[in-house]
Amino acid sequence: MYKQLIRPLLFRCDPERIHEFTLRLLSWELNWRPNRAVMRSLFHTAKDDMPTELLGCTFRGRVGMAAGFDKHALLCDRLSGLGFAFMEMGTVTPEPQPGNPKPRLFRLPADKAVINRMGFNSKGVAYAARAMQRKGLAKRRMIPVAGNIGKNSATPNEAAYRDYEAGLRALYPYVDFFVVNVSCPNVKDLCALQGEKTLAPIIDALVAARAKEAVRKPILLKLGPDATTEELQYSVRIALEREIDGFVVSNTTTQRNGLNTPQERIETIGRGGLSGRPLHAAALRAVRTVRGAAGRGVPIIGVGGVFSPEDALAMLQAGASLIEVYTGMIYEGPGLVRRINRYLKQHQEEIPQW
Ligand SMILES: Cc1cc2nc3c(=O)[nH]c(=O)nc-3n(C[C@H](O)[C@H](O)[C@H](O)COP(=O)(O)O)c2cc1C
Repeated sequence: MYKQLIRPLLFRCDPERIHEFTLRLLSWELNWRPNRAVMRSLFHTAKDDMPTELLGCTFRGRVGMAAGFDKHALLCDRLSGLGFAFMEMGTVTPEPQPGNPKPRLFRLPADKAVINRMGFNSKGVAYAARAMQRKGLAKRRMIPVAGNIGKNSATPNEAAYRDYEAGLRALYPYVDFFVVNVSCPNVKDLCALQGEKTLAPIIDALVAARAKEAVRKPILLKLGPDATTEELQYSVRIALEREIDGFVVSNTTTQRNGLNTPQERIETIGRGGLSGRPLHAAALRAVRTVRGAAGRGVPIIGVGGVFSPEDALAMLQAGASLIEVYTGMIYEGPGLVRRINRYLKQHQEEIPQW
């Protein structure tokens, strides 16, 4: 029904407007407990349960919502109503900022892809923290919630560690773990933060801030698919030496190779991060590289172009412990999560224990 009826309607409208409309609709639908129970019975049943213990949490399924969908903490753990086993809220920046000028979100239906250059549009970490407090997340979360933290565009890379630390401190009571976003291609020079000179001070500041808290919450690093094998191995080594607990792989790509969308359309759209189907192979490669560098026992969340249960299994076999979807949901609809969970349950013996 989604692909035949709903998607054609949604795809007639401006992508960012539809995103906001969908969020509001879901917020209305999922913030009310009886509605949520009905939705959950549609999208997730005990049959789909596959508890995984990781990062100090119990994940009832392998599929989470990737960062960027709920940037302002409108839904958070309410996404359990769509069958998600966890979600990443953000990226949030310390101060509110509008992001890049619109239009900044584009669909590429011929490639089942999206290009975005949102540029960390954020209502700021205080806004997100208040929203999470109102939802009671300091006491109880229906599914594990991660806080994805970033830096303000105006903050120079040398001072970026302060922004990340502010994000961690403000969200600490409300999340189960953190994701440090140093790989978004839409924020000027952000990817350069993956180099040692800037990455090490960020991690050190975060680990020191965490040490002051009563409870130790895991910190994961989100890496990009455009880094070379050596760069990825290097980031992994620096991170693990400094008590980073795991990785989210990968962010969007700046590559435009092999697309079906006409070249002029790609040029008109301009810069931005590409997600969806064409990203899948690069994301798999990056996951494999990060798993190779990190070894066993380090949690990796695999994300990029997961559109089917088979894609999800491939991601887990490449080295991921959990997976996330975003663009796949736009093209395949919310039923994708349940389809993946059911398939993985039937193919449990093919899922490696990392
Ligand atoms: C519109 C949009 C906004 C995004 N915003 C963020 C973000 O704020 N922070 C982040 O870490 N990743 C962000 N991402 C990247 C996704 O979390 C994910 O890494 C990427 O889209 C690849 O997964 P997919 O192919 O399933 O979409 C965004 C992606 C899209 C499409």
